[in-house]
Amino acid sequence: MAAARALRLSVLRLPVLLPLLLALLPGPAGAVWPQPQVQSSPPSGGRCPVPARRFRFAAADGSAVGPGCAVLDAAFQRYWPLLFGRKGAVCFPAGLETFSQLVGRDENGTYYINETEIVDFPRFPHRGLLLDTSRHYLPLRAILETLDVMAYNKFNVFHWHIVDDPSFPYESSTFPELSKQGAFNAMTHVYTASDVQTVIEYARLRGIRVIAEFDTPGHTLSWGPGAPGLLTPCYMGKAPSGVYGPINPIVNSTYQFVTRLFQEVSAVFPDFFLHLGGDEVDFTCWQSNPEIRAFMTKRGFGEDYKKLESFYIQRLLDIVSSLDKGYIVWQEVFDNDVKLRPDTIIHVWKENRLEYVKEMANVTRSGYRALLSAPWYLNRISYGQDWIEAYRVEPLNFEGSPEQKALVIGGEACMWGEYVDVTNLTPRLWPRAGAVAERLWSNETVRDLEDAYTRLAEFRCTLLGRGVQAQPLYIGYCDHEFGGA
Ligand SMILES: *[C@@H]1O[C@H](CO)[C@@H](O)[C@H](O)[C@H]1NC(C)=O
Ligand SMILES: *[C@@H]1O[C@H](CO)[C@@H](O)[C@H](O)[C@H]1NC(C)=O
Ligand SMILES: *[C@@H]1O[C@H](CO)[C@@H](O)[C@H](O)[C@H]1NC(C)=O
Ligand SMILES: *[C@@H]1O[C@H](CO)[C@@H](O)[C@H](O)[C@H]1NC(C)=O
Ligand SMILES: *[C@@H]1O[C@H](CO)[C@@H](O)[C@H](O)[C@H]1NC(C)=O
Repeated sequence: MAAARALRLSVLRLPVLLPLLLALLPGPAGAVWPQPQVQSSPPSGGRCPVPARRFRFAAADGSAVGPGCAVLDAAFQRYWPLLFGRKGAVCFPAGLETFSQLVGRDENGTYYINETEIVDFPRFPHRGLLLDTSRHYLPLRAILETLDVMAYNKFNVFHWHIVDDPSFPYESSTFPELSKQGAFNAMTHVYTASDVQTVIEYARLRGIRVIAEFDTPGHTLSWGPGAPGLLTPCYMGKAPSGVYGPINPIVNSTYQFVTRLFQEVSAVFPDFFLHLGGDEVDFTCWQSNPEIRAFMTKRGFGEDYKKLESFYIQRLLDIVSSLDKGYIVWQEVFDNDVKLRPDTIIHVWKENRLEYVKEMANVTRSGYRALLSAPWYLNRISYGQDWIEAYRVEPLNFEGSPEQKALVIGGEACMWGEYVDVTNLTPRLWPRAGAVAERLWSNETVRDLEDAYTRLAEFRCTLLGRGVQAQPLYIGYCDHEFGGA
């Protein structure tokens, strides 16, 4: 049954996993991160040389992906060098990665692999990583490198929090003024249409979906200069103060704008899902504005600004549904009783532990699918081994029926950008995000901290060998330190 499930998943998301699933490979198993579902080595197992010069990957006979599968072929090409040293060697999206972690080198420098049997499949289908490219601009190369390391960790969703209050780096073909006026620098700090395509294709070849987030109606200050009339003018007494608040939900032009923008975005990003944000809407600006207050009265909303937020979100959701897209929203949209389609995914982020556990229960009790990020804000750092905290999380550890637990589709590690740019992104992410990756991939019983430490430390050394500037877990060394030492 596990094998059947693995097979199905491999066809859907991990086409390259297939040959590995069925592989019988020679010696005791090496450490693999994240830990496979089933890994064993026969007591009398042998070892098998992996001769670099003659070694080739190929899809097994009878595998569902035949020769000529572009994703697989590209993965074969990538993993060869990863296997056989920096210029040399190996593996796949998911199966190739496992294989690459099993290959060792004997005292004579010969590559080999111990006989090992692996059956593997992910515990949760949605294993995401959020990058924030608004608070700091991340160069394209940093995003692509992150996608590489995500694939090494078997993450399969890149949540691109592409715009927010501080800057609007997305170059829109429908509304070019948004980035012209809203990017930190409209020439150098933007993602062109071609950059976006590069990210999507690079991710696809690594078995990673790209879900873009265009967060509204809050978190939109950078949209204002390029979209006159979109944001709510805040008032100081009887006059506009010159400051702007969330998107203005009471004018028709807002919905015309939003329709055209999301028409573009849903065509540019092929994934079925868009992330629509909806978090942290500040009501004080709406409250200050006399036209908004008059609208509230007319609609019978009283003083309840959540109702106004719902009014906006419901129209937005209708627009996005009509574009044949599914949507993910931050938890406030659920908390504020916005009417949602039953297939909406609720993204749980508020960090207080007692509350997020209850929130997971509430969301799933209402029948919605849930994504967990609350305990995985990796932008937060502390002295010591803080990967352990992320590792200890059990996403299904809330009160609820098995049906409720089945609604948890996974989670996302988040790297918000207030204090993170290209200089510290990689060491802050890796190997810490690996803790989240294993929690979302491996069997829930895989929780032994000492074993995890050993494997994660070894995996981190592997990352250094692949040129990833991953920070240390604790005291120790790698055979090959970063930079070739
Ligand atoms: C292969 O198995 C031997 C014996 O258990 C072990 O010492 C060695 O580290 C293993 N090598 C790899 C690459 O897994
Ligand atoms: C390494 O090479 C030596 C000398 O040729 C040989 O005796 C030894 O068996 C080799 N080791 C392995 C693991 O093949
Ligand atoms: C806004 O649109 C609604 C419905 O389409 C329409 O009834 C209303 O008159 C419009 N308001 C303005 C100010 O154009
Ligand atoms: C969960 O739902 C209960 C009952 O509706 C409510 O009292 C509680 O505040 C909710 N908890 C959270 C964290 O949303
Ligand atoms: C997880 O591991 C437990 C204990 O080894 C096992 O009973 C269970 O079947 C495993 N779950 C899956 C989905 O393989």
